Amino acid sequence: MSHKIAIIGKGNVGQALAVGLRKAGHEIRFASTDPREPVDAAAEWGDVVILAVPWTAHGSIAKAVGKRVDGKTVVDVSNIMTPSYDLAIGFSTSGAEELQKLLPRAHVVKAFNTVFAQTMRTGRMHGETLTVFVAGDNLKSKQAVRNLAEYIGFDSVDAGPLKSARYLEPLGMLNITLGYGLKMGTDIGVRLVKKAA
Ligand SMILES: NC(=O)c1ccc[n+]([C@@H]2O[C@H](COP(=O)([O-])OP(=O)(O)OC[C@H]3O[C@@H](n4cnc5c(N)ncnc54)[C@H](OP(=O)(O)O)[C@@H]3O)[C@@H](O)[C@H]2O)c1
Repeated sequence: MSHKIAIIGKGNVGQALAVGLRKAGHEIRFASTDPREPVDAAAEWGDVVILAVPWTAHGSIAKAVGKRVDGKTVVDVSNIMTPSYDLAIGFSTSGAEELQKLLPRAHVVKAFNTVFAQTMRTGRMHGETLTVFVAGDNLKSKQAVRNLAEYIGFDSVDAGPLKSARYLEPLGMLNITLGYGLKMGTDIGVRLVKKAA
């Protein structure tokens, strides 16, 4: 099924996901800080809305999109970092759950935060298929995001309800720590090994 996908944020992640998703036949419209690409119009147009922005922009974006995302799939790809690269939220909530509170009638799904942008065009690195963990409370939306990840080329794993973002966000921080802090580079990724379906 082809989707109209609004991507808010035209940085590393927004651009890379657009390449991967266009290849899979989806229609993409960007929104950005440029007033010629307004967030509200893109959110109205899309049936899936991907927030590819720093988590600190979620509040202003939620205000801008308002009820336009009611009943729609909203994908949160963010890593919840302080400026000094520490996890900013955790234990009893997550960035994704806080976003859900800001957009109570949207179907927020956490995905793609545990893979680097440079893997998002193909879902592969060094000949291996990487795993995208997908968490969300609305089963249809979660499945739709799993399908998007698989169209790109990733393996997708159902990581449970949105509450599992409490575990996915620290996993994203581990990825960043390995890639940048421990200088392994961003051409790395995680793959879940499991019994074939
Ligand atoms: N880079 C990665 O490998 C990676 C991997 C997984 C997850 N993530 C997460 O993905 C998100 C995006 O990361 P990125 O690397 O793509 O960052 P980036 O390259 O800095 O891009 C962020 C984009 O968001 C835009 N933006 C900020 N506030 C906005 C607003 N209110 N309305 C519209 N656009 C807005 C910025 O526009 P301006 O430039 O005009 O401010 C910029 O184009 C972050 O939450 C990050 O934690 C990143």
